Amino acid sequence: MDDKKIIFSGVQPSGNLTLGNYLGAIKNWVSLQNDYRCIYAMMDLHTITVRQTPADVRRRTLEVLALYIACGIDPEENILFIQSHNSAHAELAWVLNCYTYMGELQRMTQFKDKSSRHAENINAGLFTYPVLMAADILLYQADYVPVGKDQMQHIEICRDIAQRFNAVYGDVFTVPEGLLPKVGANVMSLQEPTKKMSKSDPNPKAYISMMDDMNVIAKKIKSSVTDSEGVIEYREGDETKAGINNLLTIMSAVTKRSIDDIVKDYAGKGYGDFKNDVAEAVVECIRPIREEYDRIIADKQYLMDICSKGAESARRISQRTLKKVYKKVGFVL
Ligand code: TRP
Repeated sequence: MDDKKIIFSGVQPSGNLTLGNYLGAIKNWVSLQNDYRCIYAMMDLHTITVRQTPADVRRRTLEVLALYIACGIDPEENILFIQSHNSAHAELAWVLNCYTYMGELQRMTQFKDKSSRHAENINAGLFTYPVLMAADILLYQADYVPVGKDQMQHIEICRDIAQRFNAVYGDVFTVPEGLLPKVGANVMSLQEPTKKMSKSDPNPKAYISMMDDMNVIAKKIKSSVTDSEGVIEYREGDETKAGINNLLTIMSAVTKRSIDDIVKDYAGKGYGDFKNDVAEAVVECIRPIREEYDRIIADKQYLMDICSKGAESARRISQRTLKKVYKKVGFVL
């Protein structure tokens, strides 16, 4: 391998990818591909911690892959693969389970959230989700992990596990760092703008799917929740301004202009004008990606070739780490 630093990240094929995923993650990954060795995976093992319809998981896994490529992630330059195609993830996760404490996992915000939302199915996989995620990252000796803010706690526990393991067995794992995107890290729900935009939101008006029709996207932005003050201003931390803050964040991310500049444009103007412009800017951002996506998703053979090549590279890299770990813990090789 060359001496480029390694980046690993993943996304769950559990729902349609949203504008939040694009602006908060994928878009930033495109700019990383020249300077880092990038490995991205479709996290299907994580997805089944919540009940899914199998046909949906299968379809979405390839959709996400196609969308990554459509967003500009070059499959020749990066490693793109499906998590379940590399059994090393499950294997390392087992070992790391034995180096992770119940108490640590119990403190995970995502576990608490998801177990309250899926009270009928609080399974062990949901509980050990962060351990599998640590395995994903540590297998590739990743230096950086670009994620949204909500995943930072999982990066922290991954670092703790790596350091704990290294303290006993020597330098086995690279201790990774989370990489937060500079802008658009936090795209919020269009209906309850104090909550993150989520692809699993029961209300489809709350998120913009990268798969939405252009007129649906515009409609969702125009009907987003704001406030009655009528002033377009960014006020960090002011909950009544959450809707406007969010639209400004989105506008800034899709137009690559600063929030201050945008605010200046709208001095004295109303929310109606502003929303129309945001809608148009978002549509212009998504349209070319959608056209490329439609072309790629139609070519199943191309997609399967990419993920099988990707899985081969992923297996090769991760075997080195797994072998080392097995040796350290005393397994006969
Ligand atoms: N938990 C991440 C999410 O829901 C997805 C994920 C799984 C991931 N494994 C990962 C992200 C490893 C980065 C690195 O967004």
